[in-house]
Order: sequence, then C-alpha cells, then structure tokens
Amino acid sequence: MAPDYKIRPFRSSDTDQLIELWQQVLPATQTWNDPVETLGRKLQRADGLVWVARRHEEIVGAVMAGYDGIRGWIYSLAVHPQHRKIGIGRKLVDSAESALIALGCPKVNLQVRATNQSVIEFYRRCGYAVEDRASLGKPLSDFPASTDMPKQTSGPCDYHIVEELSDKHVVELHELIQAQWWGKNRSLEDVKKMVEKTSLMIGLVEHSSNRLVGYCRTLTDFTFRATIYDVMVERSLQGQGLGKRLMDEICSHPQLRNVSLIYLACEPHLYPFYQQWGFRTYEGRAQWMLKVQREE
Ligand SMILES: CC(C)(COP(=O)(O)OP(=O)(O)OC[C@H]1O[C@@H](n2cnc3c(N)ncnc32)[C@H](O)[C@@H]1OP(=O)(O)O)[C@@H](O)C(=O)NCCC(=O)NCCS
Repeated sequence: MAPDYKIRPFRSSDTDQLIELWQQVLPATQTWNDPVETLGRKLQRADGLVWVARRHEEIVGAVMAGYDGIRGWIYSLAVHPQHRKIGIGRKLVDSAESALIALGCPKVNLQVRATNQSVIEFYRRCGYAVEDRASLGKPLSDFPASTDMPKQTSGPCDYHIVEELSDKHVVELHELIQAQWWGKNRSLEDVKKMVEKTSLMIGLVEHSSNRLVGYCRTLTDFTFRATIYDVMVERSLQGQGLGKRLMDEICSHPQLRNVSLIYLACEPHLYPFYQQWGFRTYEGRAQWMLKVQREE
C-alpha cells in the first residue's frame, strides 16, 4: 500500500464519507444492512472496532469488526473501486484482526454471498478458508423492509456515541458546560485545550442534527486510576436515559476495563444515580485534599 494511504480508527467526522462509500460499494438489500442504521448501531457499542482507509482527506476503504467473547466477526469491508488491488483491503483486514487478537479473540468468521467469488478469492489470499458449515440467520424484531423503515422522531436510537469531537461539537460542548452551575465561566479556548488533553471522552450526538447533546470524560493512566468528570446531558433531553447511556459507555469502555480505581465527585442527590455502576461514598484512611490555583 502506498505511503499516502493511511488506515486509522473511525472518527465521527468520517460519518458522511463512510456512509457514501458503503452505499456505493456494498449492496444494501436488507434493512439490517442499511449503512446509516448499521453505523448508528455499531457506534452505540463504542467498541472502537471500525476503521477507515484514507488517502489525504478522502475515505477510500472501511471495515468493521465485532467480538462477543466467543468469535470475532468482520463486517462491511469495502474499498472504493478506483483504489483496489493495491493492498488496502488486506491492510483493513489486518487492522481488524490485530484488534481482535488484542481482545483475546481465538477465531474470526465472516460471511460473503456465495455468488461473490472474487471477494471469496480476496479473503482466501488473506488466509481465510471456506468452511464446511451452513450459514443460518433469522431477522429479529420484525424489522420492516428498508424502504418503509419508520423514522422515529425521538428515542435512544436517535443518538450515537463518539469518542472524538469535531470543531462544531467542541463549540456545542462549551455551550453544554456553560449551562452547568460549575461551568459558567469556562472559556471556549480553555474547553478546546481540555478536549485536546483529555484521556478519553464519550460524546452523545443526535443523528438528525449532528448536535452534541451529552458528554462525559475521564482522565486516566489506563492502569491504576481514572477519574470521571463532566457527565452532562442537554437540559431539554434529560430524563430519557441518555445520562445512563453515557455512564454505560464510559464504565464498559475496553480501555478502562482493567483500571483499579475509578473516582468521581458529585452532589449527594446524585449518589443513587452513580451507585448503578458500583460507585459508593467512602470514609477511607486517606482523604482528598484540594488546592485552588485559579478561580473559575
Ligand atoms: C474485496 C475488496 C475489499 C478487496 O480490496 P482490495 O483493496 O482491492 O484488496 P487488496 O489489494 O488488499 O488485495 C489483497 C489480495 O487479494 C487479491 N484480490 C483482491 N481483489 C481480488 C479479486 N477481486 N479477485 C481475486 N483476488 C483479489 C489481491 O490480488 C491481493 O492478492 P496478493 O496479495 O496475493 O497479490 C474490494 O474488492 C471490495 O471492496 N469489494 C466489494 C465489497 C465487498 O463485496 N466486500 C465484502 C463484504 S464482506
């Protein structure tokens, strides 16, 4: 693969180009394959298992993987027709496999239409073999045909999770912060700096408007300690389970799974909320001390 092609994990700013690529390359004859729905559902998992291949600013390839603790799966591999046969497909598969190996996955499977002989040949060259198994499947929950898929006006499926923020999202984050009692005096400049230096962020974005409506973040060494800060949901959308969704995402994040201790500070009326993820107040031998260096 030429050096001007780069593979990297998906970022929210890739969304439009990635969907366009999948729409162009992959046949979406079934509702469960619809690229918009598929990507939305995948990003809700926030497992970091989506990659894109880029040449300069253009997305020319993509792949997704999944791991359920038993098997890994590869999905939606696609390379733009003008950029094929130069090793991008193989590199995308390598990225997915390396991440699955790092997660302890012992075997990876994938499905290709039996008529798609050229793609089967591609996978053979990547070390895959057609196995003597029948592939069974069953659509769940009476999915309607993609043409008459109802568009919900509001609900948990209308939002997706991102781990990186576009410039627009940073401005919206600043607005979210300023609406909090503790964040009124924080400047956009400082919020930008904070975003740049934060170890891990979870943003909740409304699909239809691409608006950041929820956020939380952690500062961590990814090993011994992590502290969660700034869990917030836009006021008009509170009470719909979006805060729970943010906390579910951050607490189950693969990069935080093995951290020994996670801290957070909150007002007492929020204790029951955070207790859902195992947080408790404590009277330990060591107590936190605080030094104020700058008034906010
Ligand atoms: C399959 C696909 C991803 C391959 O991407 P690519 O970037 O062209 O593949 P690479 O250049 O990395 O090829 C890797 C190897 O596979 C071979 N290969 C690639 N496409 C091939 C084809 N159509 N027929 C036979 N061999 C093929 C290459 O020659 C290369 O072999 P080598 O290393 O032994 O020389 C691309 O053709 C595609 O997007 N197809 C349509 C999408 C699709 O159906 N995806 C599957 C959904 S699961």
